[in-house]
Amino acid sequence: MRKPIVLLIPVAIVAASTLYPAGEKGTTSSSQSNPPEAYTAYCSSCHGADGQDFVGRDWKLGSDPESINRAITDGFELLGMPAFDGVLTEEEIHSIQDYLGERASSEGDFRPSPPQTLQASDLTIGVHEIINGLETPWGMDFINDSTLLITEREGRLWKFESGVLSDIAGLPSDIHVKGQGGLLDVMHWSDPNDGSQWIYLTYSKNHPDDDDLSATALVRAPWDATASTITNWEELFVAEPYESTHRHYGSRVAIGGDGKMYLTCGERGMRDVHPQTLETAPGKVHRFNPDGTIPADNPFVNTPGAVPSIWSWGHRNPQGMIIHPISGAVWTHEHGPKGGDEINISRRGKNYGWPKITFGRNYIGTIITRDTAMTGLEQPLHYWLPSIGPCGMQMIHGGAWPETWQGNLLVGSLSFEYLERLQISNETVVSRERLLDGIGRVRDIAQNESGEIFVAVEGAGTILHLEPILEE
Ligand code: HEC
Repeated sequence: MRKPIVLLIPVAIVAASTLYPAGEKGTTSSSQSNPPEAYTAYCSSCHGADGQDFVGRDWKLGSDPESINRAITDGFELLGMPAFDGVLTEEEIHSIQDYLGERASSEGDFRPSPPQTLQASDLTIGVHEIINGLETPWGMDFINDSTLLITEREGRLWKFESGVLSDIAGLPSDIHVKGQGGLLDVMHWSDPNDGSQWIYLTYSKNHPDDDDLSATALVRAPWDATASTITNWEELFVAEPYESTHRHYGSRVAIGGDGKMYLTCGERGMRDVHPQTLETAPGKVHRFNPDGTIPADNPFVNTPGAVPSIWSWGHRNPQGMIIHPISGAVWTHEHGPKGGDEINISRRGKNYGWPKITFGRNYIGTIITRDTAMTGLEQPLHYWLPSIGPCGMQMIHGGAWPETWQGNLLVGSLSFEYLERLQISNETVVSRERLLDGIGRVRDIAQNESGEIFVAVEGAGTILHLEPILEE
């Protein structure tokens, strides 16, 4: 098993950029342009004649053009990098910068490193990489402010506690790690009635008799804070039928303001089969009691043939869900087709229209339907054009965040690799802003009890801690 590298303990957060472990230097690829003269004259002695030092690099000071520029101009004494301010012209620096960028990207798995601070329109935010070396961190949930649970889609569960990352064994043995499938969301819940502690997982599950078939599943087990192995998993729900596709599983799980448990399930890439029938589970938001039983006030419990856990329907692939911190309502977002990603407030018994109405088109540009509205079908609170590939969501609540940030949504973008901030007023998006542009595919966002925000980035395999830097 590949052990992620824990960089630092959260109680003493240090800027991440100085803490990257030295990376393995890649080999030189055959097709490359010649280095600029200034590089050969001033840099090659230490960094290699053909810039090989920058191929496949784990960047310490930042790989974006400004950081490279700063490294060249100001140097970094502590690391042994001289300052070239006044030695090189702006033009020479730019040509070197371009060359290093090209060398850095030549290996294919160029990994952008996070900036140390990020400048939003009205706030400076500190960015600290607290964990790296993961593969595809998919879900996160805090048990308390010093303990974070993290899933990796590859089928691993981690506990990050007071700066120490340890893996948790005993996961279900039928996790279908294929395509978009694998271990997905995680939730810790403590029962207000008896104080018992539970851990819930969602994952794509193999069919018991046929590994080619899979379905979104929800399980839970008692949580023992001291154990490194979880036993006694209880299967609460399988979003049947099992299908042979490996996509659109959803799935997020959360406990709503009403004390009920909500689970999002994608339509498995079968838009003409699942979303518009109440007789199958995919393409729906489901509602359960926390023990997996069906609440008597679910909308379709008395509808013949309907799956009784259905809460809302007509969904495509919802991979973000929050419980509104004030109203307790269930907010979801979902991947649409090209141009049809949506935010919805999932309300009792409502149909969100996929694929009868959509603002999106097929990926190749052809029309799915010209209808964007229809009687009996709900309009989204927001839709993204173009699609951002939304994944993970939080609503900022409390903490040190200034007033203008309270109640803002943060949504990850898989497609454009950034974190989106949406300001909301009266259930309407009033402004959008790109944060952490180019950071990598943002999979999930978590918030602890203190209102601090954490962002999981796949590919880079990092967990970032965002901290508002307030003027005294
Ligand atoms: C005396 C040796 C030396 C020379 C000459 C030198 N560097 Fe460096 N440079 C270093 C060292 C040492 C580091 C520290 C990081 C490392 O390589 O492990 C560094 C770091 C850097 C970094 C930051 C890399 C990161 O991981 O963020 C950049 C960019 C860089 N050098 C560019 C240049 C350029 C461009 C030149 C020529 C103008 C140059 N260096 C000349 C030794 C040198």
